[in-house]
Amino acid sequence: MTAAREFRSLLFDPADTNTCRLVSGAADGFPNAMLDRYGDRLLAQWYAQPNPALREAFAAGKLVERSMEKQPTGETALPESRFEIVENGLKFLISLDAGYSTGLFLDQRENRRRLLASDLRNKTVLNTFAYTCAFSVAAARAGAIVTSLDLSKRYLDWGRDNFRLNDINPDAHDFIYGDCFDWLARLAKKGRSYDMVLLDPPTFSTVKKGRAFSAEKDYAKLVALAEPLVKAGGTLFCSTNARSLSPQRFMEAVQRGAPRVRRMKFATQPFDFRVASGEKPYLKTVWAELD
Ligand SMILES: C[S@@+](CC[C@H](N)C(=O)[O-])C[C@H]1O[C@@H](n2cnc3c(N)ncnc32)[C@H](O)[C@@H]1O
Repeated sequence: MTAAREFRSLLFDPADTNTCRLVSGAADGFPNAMLDRYGDRLLAQWYAQPNPALREAFAAGKLVERSMEKQPTGETALPESRFEIVENGLKFLISLDAGYSTGLFLDQRENRRRLLASDLRNKTVLNTFAYTCAFSVAAARAGAIVTSLDLSKRYLDWGRDNFRLNDINPDAHDFIYGDCFDWLARLAKKGRSYDMVLLDPPTFSTVKKGRAFSAEKDYAKLVALAEPLVKAGGTLFCSTNARSLSPQRFMEAVQRGAPRVRRMKFATQPFDFRVASGEKPYLKTVWAELD
């Protein structure tokens, strides 16, 4: 545990980033368990059984524990218990009792850093599957006018709060509540286009009766819906956690969906999401430049 903690403390300046994965399963000596730091709070999650060694190591800390197999679902109101963390110098609201996720996917930190470091002044960004708008906040801070699209009103409200927390006026940006698959087609029909489009769908999504999305089978179709919305010379970001897709098959799907792709840069999960020998990293992301 000390080794896991010390390794991370070398990586992060707490004034700039006070959140990271502290324990990444077997790679850190705790199979089936994950421990994440959010400021001064810790979230332990496990598959199968709680890990007594992990619990013991953190008995004195502010530890919240949760099974990955029994996640609460269906909340509609914003959680009351949100608190602030800092990542890449940006602030985000977190809740450790808000259902499936905490408000921030820590494994996308380096992609948010990349947005933040880009010159997006006078550029337009469409962030689909926006969740609590963390990519949107980073892009807006880099100067972009951002449209955030999600199927959850509650998450978009959370996103507006994240904008305000960083002194960015949400009214200067767009938030669209709806189904991305409908809206991508609708925006294309209206002739809208953006300098950058971000695609980060869940691995599976059931939206309407009889229509389901599976990242493994349908990623190329999603990319094909998004491609017309990317301006000439623009950027398409694609991300998936689908373990069944290899990096190569994922990149092929992106290329198949968007023949205009001329160059791709692949990125996987950051170093604190360590991978044990014999395991494969689950996160696959691609920054694609389009003709
Ligand atoms: C994997 S999270 C996206 C994470 C986000 N890109 C980030 O980095 O914080 C998936 C999001 O997609 C939304 N979602 C799922 N199916 C959708 C659909 N068909 N249309 C729009 N949003 C959808 C969910 O509400 C959730 O916020």
